[in-house]
Amino acid sequence: MRTSLSASTLIMKAMPAEEWTTAEHVDRYLSRADQCPRRAEGESVLLEHVPRDARRVLDLGTGDGRLLGLLETDHREMLAVGLDASELMLEAARERFAGDERIEVVEHDFAEPLPALGRFDAVVSSMAIHHLEHERKHSLYGEVFDLLEPGGVFANFEHVASPTRRLHLAFFAAIDEPLEHEDPSDRLLDVESQLRWLRELGFDDVDCYWKWLEMALIVGVKPTTDG
Ligand SMILES: C[S@@+](CC[C@H](N)C(=O)[O-])C[C@H]1O[C@@H](n2cnc3c(N)ncnc32)[C@H](O)[C@@H]1O
Repeated sequence: MRTSLSASTLIMKAMPAEEWTTAEHVDRYLSRADQCPRRAEGESVLLEHVPRDARRVLDLGTGDGRLLGLLETDHREMLAVGLDASELMLEAARERFAGDERIEVVEHDFAEPLPALGRFDAVVSSMAIHHLEHERKHSLYGEVFDLLEPGGVFANFEHVASPTRRLHLAFFAAIDEPLEHEDPSDRLLDVESQLRWLRELGFDDVDCYWKWLEMALIVGVKPTTDG
């Protein structure tokens, strides 16, 4: 049986991504990011799907720039923009990429329409878009389609919803996180809905390319005009 939400939970739920403004939450996430089982496996599949010659890459919810750091290693031509709303995360990303002119770090709350950043060969994201309300996830996917070059790739390594409460609990047990540490701004959505949305928006080759419990890699390609 579902328990009702307490008043304090409701207040927290009304403030998307608020937890990323506290040093405690950010530090805890960053200190545990490498320990998440199977994460490196999913990330490595994402890296395979970003073309080696991708020049402009946008990372939505870049955090401390983890994903761009991984991409930078074998995507030598890459000029990337890492976007995030959290001052603390942006500070960590700026520190990671200090002196690296290939990476630009931009402050933006992607609950709002994306700023004019030009076109991209790839848009990537890791564990970030699930913080948005479903309606905004959908419109953001549309904006991603619009700012991709023809043939460009959208690769979203995401925290997705389990089909049942039991599997949700099993995921938290598997990653050794108590359920109390679930992010208050999580708005988990199942893989199937997200795949359908991407197809409806016009993406090609849409599929879930990797999945383990609540971690999934969702990829779509913007068609080229010549098919
Ligand atoms: C779980 S962390 C993931 C960070 C990084 N992508 C990684 O893989 O380690 C989620 C990130 O999404 C960012 N985020 C959440 N909601 C956001 C929003 N509305 N606009 C921009 N960034 C947001 C947070 O600030 C945080 O850096």
